[in-house]
Amino acid sequence: MSPKQSFDVSKINIGCGSVAADGWLNIDKSPNAWLAKHRTIRSLLIALKVAPKSTQEAQYRSDIELLDIHKKPLPVADGSVEWIYTSHLIGSMNRAQALKLMKECSRVLRPGGRLRIVTPDLEKVAQDWLNKIQAYFQQDRAYFTDCTDQNVAIGDCFVESMNLKLFTGTSMNKIQKAFHYPVQYIYDFDSLELLLHQAGFGRVEKSDYRQSAMPDVEQLDVRPGSLYVEAIK
Ligand SMILES: C[S@@+](CC[C@H](N)C(=O)[O-])C[C@H]1O[C@@H](n2cnc3c(N)ncnc32)[C@H](O)[C@@H]1O
Repeated sequence: MSPKQSFDVSKINIGCGSVAADGWLNIDKSPNAWLAKHRTIRSLLIALKVAPKSTQEAQYRSDIELLDIHKKPLPVADGSVEWIYTSHLIGSMNRAQALKLMKECSRVLRPGGRLRIVTPDLEKVAQDWLNKIQAYFQQDRAYFTDCTDQNVAIGDCFVESMNLKLFTGTSMNKIQKAFHYPVQYIYDFDSLELLLHQAGFGRVEKSDYRQSAMPDVEQLDVRPGSLYVEAIK
């Protein structure tokens, strides 16, 4: 499938949300991005309680390219892009979808081009759970102030506190789903490296918060404590 409209850009931010930078092709499918282009309709939908009030507060730019990356290819030519940035997007899709997206990133990157991925860190999440359960048994209930219900297990409280709404998307209606991206998959470095190799990337490197040669990384990296990985085509 070839894209209808093709942009001549060297930097793409996929699933940018409200974290977008100048000079990048910022892509998102969110209704928030559409509503940022149509502010009168946005006010009306909030007044009618069709759109959540958070829509008003979300600082989405009005120049975001509206695109669902599960439905359409990236709107750029093969081998034309130098940098791709994506933060907290691949965790909201299943592994097969993520693999397809990584292959699509590989298609558009030029040789030597770099893909930077930021996503929740399985190792950190697991370690955090161990720390919390230990604290719980040491009677440090400060960690679990919300967990007073005897019928709720510690694991449930943990999932809630980490905002890991795994698979809860199924209980949402269509409008709610359009505004929410529950975590569906969590990677550690090894599993993400394997995914990237399977997608055709040669070199995969562990990175860190705001540590990169990628332009605008200080502006784009807003999620410390995540897994940071870069893949080179
Ligand atoms: C959790 S937010 C992360 C936003 C931002 N990158 C950040 O790190 O704060 C995930 C973003 O990915 C977008 N997204 C999810 N699925 C998408 C898809 N299939 N195509 C394009 N954007 C998508 C959502 O609309 C949302 O803005």
